[in-house]
Amino acid sequence: MGFKHEVIEKNALLLSVLILPTVAIGGLVEIVPLFTVETTIEKVEGVRPYTPLELAGRNVYVREGCYLCHSQQIRPFRDEVERYGPYSIAAESKYDKPFQWGSKRTGPDLARVGGKYSNAWHVAHLENPQAIVPGSVMPAYAFLAQRELKFVDPAGHLTANKRVGVPYTEEQIAQAEKDLRDQANPDADTAALLKRYPKAVTGDFDGDPAKLTEMDALVAYLQMLGTLVDFNALTLKDLQQ
Ligand code: HEC
Repeated sequence: MGFKHEVIEKNALLLSVLILPTVAIGGLVEIVPLFTVETTIEKVEGVRPYTPLELAGRNVYVREGCYLCHSQQIRPFRDEVERYGPYSIAAESKYDKPFQWGSKRTGPDLARVGGKYSNAWHVAHLENPQAIVPGSVMPAYAFLAQRELKFVDPAGHLTANKRVGVPYTEEQIAQAEKDLRDQANPDADTAALLKRYPKAVTGDFDGDPAKLTEMDALVAYLQMLGTLVDFNALTLKDLQQ
């Protein structure tokens, strides 16, 4: 046996030829079972595409590299669930292009940070993290409140997302520009917006209702993270279907 193996190891061509079926069998064993499941993304109630304002905030999040210090994926371990809430399920990030699961946690996971703090807390924290959490190593992002939100062509942005599989409706695309402004305008009538995007958080976010800033968009995004699925209503069976 030992001798025969030596023959294989000393013959590069024979080794390569034998590796091929070995790897192929290993691959098939992993891949074939997946053909028998209809989808690897469980169907759950509540997950909806981002509002134009949330999408703009998400772009700020990506641009500033928040994912370098923050994950958005609660793993199914008891310590994580006790700290952050129900573990993340695939459906919750199915409209994320690209996903923000992250690979490093210098700061806490943000997958369920929505509703945990007030808008004012987020603004104060983003403007000066150390003023809120002494010793925090998070950089300050005060400039976001000064920068007017320049989200050019929100309808085009929604259309681009639609092309890669996010089910935006014609109505959502047509109303994108208006929805973007209305969500952060405390005086706007948001009934139609809330119908298009259930559970959207509306109103002024950055403390200055007169200006639509990058801070408004980022806080709108943070405030909806992890809030769409009602985990109290979910049963284990829902997750296994
Ligand atoms: C250099 C790493 C780093 C970067 C970059 C960073 N953060 Fe943080 N963040 C932290 C740390 C550390 C904490 C925990 C201490 C604190 O609250 O300040 C934190 C806390 C937070 C919290 C509070 C979470 C909670 O549950 O208490 C939020 C929200 C947050 N960060 C958002 C952001 C956003 C949005 C960005 C990008 C604009 C960002 N962070 C960029 C390190 C970072």
